[in-house]
Amino acid sequence: AYVITDPCIDVKDGDCTVACPVDCIYEGGRMFYIHPGECINCGLCLSVCPVDAISWDEEIPQERMQFKAVNQDFFGPD
Ligand code: SF4
Ligand code: F3S
Repeated sequence: AYVITDPCIDVKDGDCTVACPVDCIYEGGRMFYIHPGECINCGLCLSVCPVDAISWDEEIPQERMQFKAVNQDFFGPD
């Protein structure tokens, strides 16, 4: 699944939510989160984020790796 990472914090541009065809991007506190179970991996959100905050989870840069868990924690166990 795709994961939103730290550049989103306090930016919260929101264009990704407009681009997402299944509305699986949710606002929460200082950033937005992609629901890992609802995301259909279409990649449409990736290119619209002005701060490049969205990564494919197998290609997240090491320094942003913790956001996979942060994202999972936000939604809780399935
Ligand atoms: Fe939505 Fe597609 Fe981005 Fe997943 S990859 S969050 S389905 S726009
Ligand atoms: Fe955040 Fe980028 Fe979406 S800043 S709200 S991930 S468009």
